[in-house]
Amino acid sequence: MKTIAIYNRKGGVGKTVSCVNIAGCLDKVRGKKVLIIDTDAQANATSYLMLHDIDKVRYSLLDIFSNPDISPDRVIYNAKMPDKKNADTKIYIVPAVRDMDKISTENMYIIRDFLSKVADQFDFCLIDCSPSVTCMTINALCAAEYLIIPAMAGRDSVTGYGIVVQEIDSMKQNGFNVNLKILGVFLNRVDKRRALEEYYRTFWKEKGNGRSFFTSFIRDASDVVNAQEFGKPIHYYKKSAVSGDYENLTGELLAKIGSYENKKRVKGLIN
Ligand SMILES: Nc1ncnc2c1ncn2[C@@H]1O[C@H](COP(=O)(O)OP(=O)(O)OP(=O)(O)O)[C@@H](O)[C@H]1O
Ligand SMILES: [Mg+2]
Repeated sequence: MKTIAIYNRKGGVGKTVSCVNIAGCLDKVRGKKVLIIDTDAQANATSYLMLHDIDKVRYSLLDIFSNPDISPDRVIYNAKMPDKKNADTKIYIVPAVRDMDKISTENMYIIRDFLSKVADQFDFCLIDCSPSVTCMTINALCAAEYLIIPAMAGRDSVTGYGIVVQEIDSMKQNGFNVNLKILGVFLNRVDKRRALEEYYRTFWKEKGNGRSFFTSFIRDASDVVNAQEFGKPIHYYKKSAVSGDYENLTGELLAKIGSYENKKRVKGLIN
């Protein structure tokens, strides 16, 4: 199982929607089984995917924090698609609950230890992070092997990215999750009619020297909002230009992960 955190200190840039739609793409297009961990007390990924089943949610990430020995079966829910007779998807979620950010713990490895118990059941784990630093966010960053950063064209996103890089650097300097790799920034809600978008695409390309920037981007599209409103990842909602954007982004994400995995193989770290 490859674990990817989706994080930016800037709010509202598309962390949650990207998390759900990349999961939908991995499932529908790539045939992969995906676990989402909702670490944000706003519980937006949870209300997105469990929209029609929210009354069935009894346990959440909070229960893992209060009782790390809880059986994974209790806290992992399948996201079902309502119009297909509640058909199963290959997307699963550990839900969030509101107010769970009030919990505090020194233990940074609760999520990592939980994931080690289910790693053989999923191909990917995507962790949706909140824009603020809570113990859930720190746990997310300590559990992930890879990090992707959604951003929007604008100064605040650049600042948010800088803060993320500083945080990760200081985490590693203190010996925590030293293997975490920042795969890069991708632009969300792109509207090519705005000159600003072109400016920021060039900015990130040059800044990242091609390494920490995704050339794929997600356009601003009402289909994204509509799919969310219906509680479906875009690939379960409608094939459209923006579903193609998510396919390109997911393809680039897998290629970046693949090249890291190859490097590890060469170093003899994995088989
Ligand atoms: N590509 C897109 N096109 C149109 N609307 C989008 C797109 N991506 C995200 N949105 C909308 O932008 C809003 C913010 O998205 P989202 O909730 O995913 O951001 P976030 O970074 O998770 O926010 P927070 O920091 O509060 O967790 C939502 O209303 C979502 O529907
Ligand atoms: Mg969010």
